[in-house]
Amino acid sequence: MKGQQQHQQEEFAPPLLRLLLVFPAINSQLLKLILSGFLLITLGVIGGGIITTSYLNSINPAVLIQLRYNILSTAPPSPSPAAPLNIPPPPTPTPTISSPSPPPPMLAPSPLPPPPTPAPTTTTTTTTTTIPPPPMPHMQGGLMNNVMIEPSMGANMHDMTDEELLRKASSMSRGKGPEERRVPPKVAFMFLVRGSLPFAPLWEKFFKGHKGLYSIYVHAQTLHPPPHHTSVFHGTTIPSKAVQWGSMSMMEAERRLLANALLDPSNQRFVLLSEACVPLYNLPSVYSYLMNSTQSFVGMYDIPGPTGRGRYNKRMRPQIEPRQWRKGSQWFGMDRALAVEVVSDGVYFPVFQRHCRPPCYGDEHYLPTFVNARSIGGRNANRSLTWVDWSKGGAHPARFVRQQVNPGMLAWMRNGGGDRCTYNGRNTTMCYLFARKFLPNSLNRLELYAPKVLGFGR
Ligand SMILES: *[C@@H]1O[C@H](CO)[C@@H](O)[C@H](O)[C@H]1NC(C)=O
Ligand SMILES: *[C@@H]1O[C@H](CO)[C@@H](O)[C@H](O)[C@H]1NC(C)=O
Ligand SMILES: *[C@@H]1O[C@H](CO)[C@@H](O)[C@H](O)[C@H]1NC(C)=O
Repeated sequence: MKGQQQHQQEEFAPPLLRLLLVFPAINSQLLKLILSGFLLITLGVIGGGIITTSYLNSINPAVLIQLRYNILSTAPPSPSPAAPLNIPPPPTPTPTISSPSPPPPMLAPSPLPPPPTPAPTTTTTTTTTTIPPPPMPHMQGGLMNNVMIEPSMGANMHDMTDEELLRKASSMSRGKGPEERRVPPKVAFMFLVRGSLPFAPLWEKFFKGHKGLYSIYVHAQTLHPPPHHTSVFHGTTIPSKAVQWGSMSMMEAERRLLANALLDPSNQRFVLLSEACVPLYNLPSVYSYLMNSTQSFVGMYDIPGPTGRGRYNKRMRPQIEPRQWRKGSQWFGMDRALAVEVVSDGVYFPVFQRHCRPPCYGDEHYLPTFVNARSIGGRNANRSLTWVDWSKGGAHPARFVRQQVNPGMLAWMRNGGGDRCTYNGRNTTMCYLFARKFLPNSLNRLELYAPKVLGFGR
């Protein structure tokens, strides 16, 4: 760009010299007059151009692009030999990182679509503007889609809309491509929380010393207290929206978490957790359990009666048939292939958005029905990894208070909590890696027993 600008000015000077050579007899007073007049015009044009450019750079890029074309379409054509003292075109505005349109879904950095071709009469100086590829989402601060991202806002911040985010995540590789193989695989721990992380101190101990094996994503509009800059949760919040518990906004939040986590090709397993969840094993055990598994963990049951099949809505036909309807826990574990399928779903999700209203709950029915309808049952263990106590009945599971937390109870949950299950086709009692719901006041007991019973936090 700079070179081009210099080139234009060089081209501009010689005609004047040529003029002087052609008319050697010209009066030197007149010459000085012409020269200073020309210099004044040149300075005025360049100065004006610089002021205009810096002004234009400070305003909305869409307006800027429009203005650029307006300026250029009214600018005179390049100096022709017949008019040597013609005003040069204004200096081309310096390239900006701004772009007129959101970046296209991308895998590899690609140049933005070329701006609309100017009318044939305009100069050609605009179309050569090269716009750097949009920055990758996991950058530590800097410019992103025209918005300055402060490092304190976190590595997971960006200003993509949900549509842009889902489109981009849908285009990500589903498995172990060359991009994924370059880095050790990680487990993405995705926290869907209501405003606080009461068990953050326990999770800190769980993650401590295992950098590189995990990534963390938090969906919360606000987080109190905000994570300290030394915390593993610092900068992990993704751009979040309000979640109405029981409405499809919850599933939208889960897809938002998945999409954000998919942008990092090293994430190979994806676990959804709530603020009331705690780990039952240490991170190396959780990591190898998930990484070695040949299946995803989406709870899936066909339950007759009003709380199961009764929640199916006939208007979901023909995309969703009654026989495809399933129910299950929302707290899933997924491999990368299923995660990409979930964020790419443009068939079942819109039907749920339109027709799943209480007593239909998207978080209990969407994923199980989707996995079942897509006939990917063989890739699913059909069970959740999160232990929960529904034995008390009602709309909400039992919640454990401080007094109920003891080593025997934790050991019992680690041993399947009375359940048996299969892992890669073999019987096991190691069915649950996480448990809920715990009340915040049970934190210090959990921290106390973690080293002896859960295998971390020494
Ligand atoms: C997972 O595989 C690794 C390597 O093959 C092995 O060391 C580890 O014990 C396995 N973990 C589980 C839970 O099977
Ligand atoms: C899970 O359920 C599907 C039916 O949707 C079935 O085909 C599959 O075998 C089940 N998987 C396991 C591990 O039982
Ligand atoms: C696994 O458990 C089931 C019952 O849950 C039992 O029928 C089966 O024989 C067991 N398989 C093995 C290999 O132990």
